[in-house]
Amino acid sequence: MKLSIIGLGKLGSPMAAVMAHKGNQVVGVDLNPAFVKAIQEGRPPVNEPGLAEMIQANRERLTATESYEEAILATDVTFIIVPTPSDPDGRFSMRYVLSAAEKIGAALKKKTEWHLVVLSSTVMPGSVGGILQPALEKHSGKKCGPDFGLCYNPEFIALGSVIRDMLRPDMILIGESDERSGAILEALYSQTCESNPRIQRMNYVNAELTKLSVNTFVTTKISYANMLAQVCDTLPGADVDVVTTAIGCDSRIGQKYLKGALGYGGPCFPRDNVAFSALARANGVPALLAEATDALNKRQVPRLADAILARMPKGGTVGILGLSYKPNTEVIEESQGVGLASHLLAQGVRVAVYDPEAMTNARALLSGAEFASSAADCARKADVVAITTAWDEFKRLTSSDFKAGATVLDCWRILPREALGDLTVLYLGSGLTEASPVAAGY
Ligand SMILES: NC(=O)c1ccc[n+]([C@@H]2O[C@H](COP(=O)([O-])OP(=O)(O)OC[C@H]3O[C@@H](n4cnc5c(N)ncnc54)[C@H](O)[C@@H]3O)[C@@H](O)[C@H]2O)c1
Repeated sequence: MKLSIIGLGKLGSPMAAVMAHKGNQVVGVDLNPAFVKAIQEGRPPVNEPGLAEMIQANRERLTATESYEEAILATDVTFIIVPTPSDPDGRFSMRYVLSAAEKIGAALKKKTEWHLVVLSSTVMPGSVGGILQPALEKHSGKKCGPDFGLCYNPEFIALGSVIRDMLRPDMILIGESDERSGAILEALYSQTCESNPRIQRMNYVNAELTKLSVNTFVTTKISYANMLAQVCDTLPGADVDVVTTAIGCDSRIGQKYLKGALGYGGPCFPRDNVAFSALARANGVPALLAEATDALNKRQVPRLADAILARMPKGGTVGILGLSYKPNTEVIEESQGVGLASHLLAQGVRVAVYDPEAMTNARALLSGAEFASSAADCARKADVVAITTAWDEFKRLTSSDFKAGATVLDCWRILPREALGDLTVLYLGSGLTEASPVAAGY
């Protein structure tokens, strides 16, 4: 197929590469000339594993332009993957989507053939039918259905594995204006996906609600595991990993996202959960579960800070290993490591930080922190070291990397007790005591 993709960011550029890789002719569009130039020169506009290689290998089918008109006139299907930032009330803003719709509409006006427009950005339920479709009709002077089709097709991907997740999804979600539009998108995904995903076709509003509900459900699961970890910390002999591994064996529950540790972060989970609550509240429905999930998540940083401060010598330094919101990404939005560092700095505590990839992004937010040159450099400066992101390179730290007499607070339980000699080692979710079951090897 001939596809245009509006927005070449963290989601749009991997989507462009995957679609070209599967034999489609793809034209990318972005307001940012540097992103357009990157694609034109065969480079990735953003960091994502496998993206550089995939763009390079598919240059003949992948181009980019700053001109909407050029892209839309040359293609049959246009994906919109622009930001939908959260407003202060937690709802997603449509301002970038509407700005894109205006330009798409103007280009559609000049086109005689039928065209399919697909929105992939996360939006509030009611937005596609109530806001986007009227905007496209107004700016194009055309009618949705006979003149162009419209689908809502959000992606379920995780940063760090976007390409894999796009090639091997569990499910493809399609909210469609009409049968023809949904069928085109279904055909595209049948040819793109390697996992034979379940294709769920429905109206716009069900698809919009499904997208938000998936992330709200997953965040509920994470907060449940964190609540369990907190209980385990108070029960001598309890170990959250032992408990979650066992309960995850029940097929009604499952193992995924059931790890008691720190709160969830990143660009999607926190705000999708809050948006769900905002939607329910606005419609007069109590969103107690989603609100409790969010409240539990916000308690993780203060809880960790208290555990650290209780073990800090006066005037000591806290080392924080991990600033990205999860391993293998430079993204720091809503990251627990950055949240912890900010919380401690605000209390006048000396903080040293290190992350393999997120240092540049974190510098602007943590001006009072000392940025170490390596994990061991950070560990050596600190009296209490918290491991806040489970990066592989942290798993190799041993007692000689730490200051003598330091306390290590391993939030993800990645360091074997035997590698840490006579240091005090505390495992979150496992008693927060040195004589924990993990430490004893049970
Ligand atoms: N990043 C994720 O993990 C993820 C996962 C699922 C859903 N989403 C959703 O996907 C959407 C995009 O997210 P992202 O992370 O790719 O954002 P991003 O900020 O990384 O990229 C968005 C891109 O759109 C461009 N852009 C903005 N307005 C434009 C316009 N009018 N015309 C052309 N280009 C424009 C920006 O320059 C930027 O390059 C959001 O709604 C987000 O909630 C993101």
